[in-house]
Amino acid sequence: MSDPQRLVVISNRVAVPKARGAAGAQGGLAGALNAALQARAGIWFGWSGEACEEHSGDIATQTTDGVTTATMDLSKRDVDEYYNGYANSTLWPLFHYRLDLAEYERETGKGYERVNERFAEAAAPLIEPDDIVWVHDYHLIPLGERLRARGLRNRIGFFLHIPWPPTRLFVSLPFHERLVRTMLHYDLLGFQTEEWLSSFLHYCEHELGAQVDEATGSVTLEGRTTLARAYPIGIDWEHFSRLGEEGDARQAQQRLISSTRRRTAMIGVDRLDYSKGLPERLDGISRFFDRYPERVRDLVFVQIAPPSREDVESYQNIRALLEQKAGQINGARSEVDLVPVRYVNRGYSHAELFGFFRASKIGLVTPLRDGMNLVAKEYIAAQDPEDPGVLILSRFAGAAAQMQDAVLVNPHSPDDLAHAIRIALDMPLEERKARYEKLVVSVREDNVQDWTANFLRDLAAG
Ligand code: G6P
Repeated sequence: MSDPQRLVVISNRVAVPKARGAAGAQGGLAGALNAALQARAGIWFGWSGEACEEHSGDIATQTTDGVTTATMDLSKRDVDEYYNGYANSTLWPLFHYRLDLAEYERETGKGYERVNERFAEAAAPLIEPDDIVWVHDYHLIPLGERLRARGLRNRIGFFLHIPWPPTRLFVSLPFHERLVRTMLHYDLLGFQTEEWLSSFLHYCEHELGAQVDEATGSVTLEGRTTLARAYPIGIDWEHFSRLGEEGDARQAQQRLISSTRRRTAMIGVDRLDYSKGLPERLDGISRFFDRYPERVRDLVFVQIAPPSREDVESYQNIRALLEQKAGQINGARSEVDLVPVRYVNRGYSHAELFGFFRASKIGLVTPLRDGMNLVAKEYIAAQDPEDPGVLILSRFAGAAAQMQDAVLVNPHSPDDLAHAIRIALDMPLEERKARYEKLVVSVREDNVQDWTANFLRDLAAG
């Protein structure tokens, strides 16, 4: 067999070797991409995460275990306009159906295009003619077209990790057509679910007038054909399951069990982001306590929410709102020996999260909109098959398409959430096991290794 083609991965963030060595950081997407890169002696290129005064174009490279990571700094202005601005104040809210939060600023749009050009300028010399190139996420939508403009004829694919909004929302983006036209320079476009894929195809057909074949996902415009398909991402089952055997996982599990004693622990783990439905989740919990006041002693809710994108105003607002809501519930419902909501603004290692998930008999994953949501899958993977917990999952998370045996909820409805919590608290062992046994099959089998292999197989096939 001939050697596989070399792989070049390009994304906004890169799991550099320093971070790769840290506990838990090798799991999930970073771990799977690193494994694919190792098998193909590849390169991973992206932003260093550092902001400097002036853009220099310098690239720092490092090779560990056959994988080269190459990173560049961005100027403060670039970070502000491209990352905080267009990516996270325009595209992120719009793609999560939050037109009310989307900001449309000419300057940040220009900054986004400028930084994509910087990525192309820096990455192009690293790419050999036979390499296959895989670009990730909404920060870098126009990058494929920028690389083509530099003469690259390689197979280039793009995967969108977040939802694709319905056409009627998407057209509120100024220059929407220009953005989508750049996508048709990729050979393969990947989406998390059939729903996001279908919204994208609808846009191409109805707004661009492209020829779309829904059965194959081919989109043809002006003589160029791109394939668009759904590839639902999964977790690294093997790696995550092994974490459960680590001391950190066992200790975390014990810590939570001993601090909750006879009460049921219910857990949420989310980046502090308005798409995750955290205020709505607290409203649902508050409704549960209003409706069933005699059950305040049965439940402890633990919300782990590490801060995220702190320079963006909408993220500062959501943080303040959550502090207020958690404070209100605890003010109204606490006793000297009991605090119903534990709200924690820090991150934990994957091993510790495994332990917390295992100690929690209810997992609450209720985003208002989410491309996929891997916390839902990790929660299931961490359960004891003989005594599994119950997953309450938003029907608006991409994961819901594969996880129909969870207790599905409308995260906007406090009554629906309160009802689901009661169902989960009282669910008999037999039903918990029956649901778990169905859920765990897809969590184990539709894993991140298959996701990587399927996308790369189709990209290389061209
Ligand atoms: C989402 C996005 C990723 C992003 C991550 C963390 O999962 O799809 O591209 O890296 O959030 O956000 P951050 O802004 O910290 O990179």
